[in-house]
Amino acid sequence: MRNASSTHQGFPVSSTSKTEQHSHTPLGKQLRRRKSIQAMANDAADNAGLETLKRSLGVTQLVMISVGATLGTGILVILGSAVPVAGPAIWIAFVLAGITALLSAVSYAEMAGMVPVSGSSYSYSYATLGEGMAWVCGWCLVLEYAVSAAAVAVGAGSYVNQTLEIFGLALPQALAAGPGEGGIINLSALIVVILATLLLVRGARESALANTVMVIVKIAILVFFVVVAFTAFNAGNFAPLLPMGAAGVTGAASMVFFSYIGFDAASTAGEEAKNPQKDLPRAIMIAMVLVTTIYVLVAVAAIGAREWDWFADSEAALVQIVSEITGQKWMVLAFALASVIAIVSVVLTTLYGQTRILLSMGRDGLIPRFFAKVSPSTRTPVICTYVTGAVVAIAASLIPLGQLAEATSIGTLFAFSLVGVSVMLLRKTQPEAPRTFRVPLYPVTPILGIAACLFLMLNLAGITWLVFGIWMAVGAAIYLAYGRRNSRLGALDPKAYEAELNL
Ligand code: ALA
Repeated sequence: MRNASSTHQGFPVSSTSKTEQHSHTPLGKQLRRRKSIQAMANDAADNAGLETLKRSLGVTQLVMISVGATLGTGILVILGSAVPVAGPAIWIAFVLAGITALLSAVSYAEMAGMVPVSGSSYSYSYATLGEGMAWVCGWCLVLEYAVSAAAVAVGAGSYVNQTLEIFGLALPQALAAGPGEGGIINLSALIVVILATLLLVRGARESALANTVMVIVKIAILVFFVVVAFTAFNAGNFAPLLPMGAAGVTGAASMVFFSYIGFDAASTAGEEAKNPQKDLPRAIMIAMVLVTTIYVLVAVAAIGAREWDWFADSEAALVQIVSEITGQKWMVLAFALASVIAIVSVVLTTLYGQTRILLSMGRDGLIPRFFAKVSPSTRTPVICTYVTGAVVAIAASLIPLGQLAEATSIGTLFAFSLVGVSVMLLRKTQPEAPRTFRVPLYPVTPILGIAACLFLMLNLAGITWLVFGIWMAVGAAIYLAYGRRNSRLGALDPKAYEAELNL
């Protein structure tokens, strides 16, 4: 059947019905079909007719979004469980994980400057690797954002419970933990997610302001921790440096990689940044350097204050160190409260990132279109935010942290490696395209970045791989059942689209 082409939102659109188009397109071709950067920019300009987000964020707020999404459970909770794995060399594990994240961060910065839309690496993959890998990436990003928001909310819950205990108001076990940990529901985690969801619905600017205040508080408590811990510094605690061998350090690096997840959150704000091309790359790089410096300082200070085998028996190591050194109850309370605030900001910003990625996927038709609908009054994706908040709240109140955190890391590492691949493909196919940030030492940096991500993935436990495999299989089934049939790209007139792409 011949198509009379028209245009819709900057795209050439076929008059043939969508179902007909999809049934005629072979799966292989559909999986490889790419969306041009120009088409993405056109989409972002009018959100495919679904009301646009509001451009209200400057570079400071963008840095705060990335730092907000990054500093949290990893340093406050996981540090404690990673020390027994690495020994005093835990700080080297933080440096290794930081280098891995930094190698990916530069690729993110280059792509965010070129493709400044809300979909982050999902959109970068769509522009370079095609619809199939874009879906895989988007599905992995659900692990990075929604699943990590749930995991982190569980961490926040344990700090809330601890704070309540200080006041003698401990929650009964049934309300303090989910079914996997001897309770019925993790009430604190549930409340944290509900509050974050309500704030996000109000507006991006309001959420960014609340996040900025919370980020200042969390940087302040970590600096406070470093100062207190250094008063009890014992250089002897660093010997022997590698009691668990080099494998212990790389194993711990895989664990603490979780603490770096989120530096890319600014890249989901492409449609709300005032000057995305310039500010997104800057925000990602500033956040990355800031966070790495804080982590290494905290790790060194913690080991300086306590011998490495002390950490095996501690639950919330940082609070315990502050408590033992100062002997001041009010300081413990302040630290515990600040930790809650720290983790709440991670929940807020990761939920924010997830909603913006889902918005892009909904706009492309790979998930239902209502995910992309923006409310004209608040200029936020209200339905998408409520749905995401509800799913995350259920997961956070019922599933234990450990299993979730590892699944998050594997999905994130995979998404990061795809960004490295995207940078290389675009350098090849569009060498002249304007870039506001360029990966230094190209192509060594993205190749090392991809290799480092794969290496850390290989260090994760077999069970994590199994969970990941099941996750990807579910994702593939959803794509075949829904995304493939409803993809907006699939509804385009193929000839006109190929002409646009210059294929
Ligand atoms: N990086 C975030 C955290 O550590 C996910 O809480």
